[in-house]
Amino acid sequence: MQAIGLTKHYGQVVGMEGADFELARGEILAVVGDNGAGKSTLIKALAGALIPDSGQIYIDGEPVRLSSPLDARLIGIETVYQELALATRLDITQNMFLGREMRKPGVLGSVLRQLDKKRMRQQAAEQMHNLGIRVQSIRQAIETLSGGQRQAVAVARAAAWGRKVVILDEPTAALGVRETHQVLDLIRRVREHGLSVVLISHSMPEIFAIADRIHIHRLGRRAAIVSPKTTVMSDVVAVMTGALPSDAVVSAALAPAGAPDF
Ligand SMILES: Nc1ncnc2c1ncn2[C@@H]1O[C@H](COP(=O)(O)OP(=O)(O)OP(=O)(O)O)[C@@H](O)[C@H]1O
Ligand SMILES: [Mg+2]
Repeated sequence: MQAIGLTKHYGQVVGMEGADFELARGEILAVVGDNGAGKSTLIKALAGALIPDSGQIYIDGEPVRLSSPLDARLIGIETVYQELALATRLDITQNMFLGREMRKPGVLGSVLRQLDKKRMRQQAAEQMHNLGIRVQSIRQAIETLSGGQRQAVAVARAAAWGRKVVILDEPTAALGVRETHQVLDLIRRVREHGLSVVLISHSMPEIFAIADRIHIHRLGRRAAIVSPKTTVMSDVVAVMTGALPSDAVVSAALAPAGAPDF
């Protein structure tokens, strides 16, 4: 997935100004930047939640127009917003299949619209198991889960439906140390399943522990893209705050010829 020159103005306020973006298949790309740098604006454009004023998004090298979150979902991009958007009164299975419920086969499903609860429970349990998420019961209401478990369910749902990209806006912001580790492990397993992950985070240790590459966002655009293997934390922070020019760090952008394969 790629984007070139994304721009979005909110009246006088600049949300994005010529923002480029590049995500390779099967990588975890961290997106970092100061408050108000435009990270959420960027991922909303990639998730179809806002339409940029100008610029172009590409999937598999093809230009795409994402006019709604549904457009993005149909292409295989799932997003977990910070506010999570889980229905707390409903149970894990119901949340996993929210808006995408399975019907019973035959007339029961097609005419009488009966839900195939058993099959949905089986698949929800399988997905939780595959991702190593432990809960007491798949029938537990979300409101009875811990913060980390809720976050895990939201990530599991995105991983279940996302065929290409899972975007996570600060998934560990509200979590304790142990829960953070669990969610990071979960993100690694999502990558093992072949998906690409975009992870917005303010935690440098977390980013350096998990990211394949780091996209540094500043003043509405990408200032640099670096590898945690060749760049130290203090330099990432310095580029982020403008203390260091972006060309002071080694770029980890993919070579133009070997552009990302999706
Ligand atoms: N709906 C909106 N209307 C007006 N201005 C907005 C809107 N959304 C974002 N902005 C502005 O656009 C700029 C970028 O905001 P954005 O939320 O993308 O930043 P961010 O990098 O996600 O920050 P944070 O780290 O605090 O989440 C900010 O100046 C913000 O005030
Ligand atoms: Mg934000």
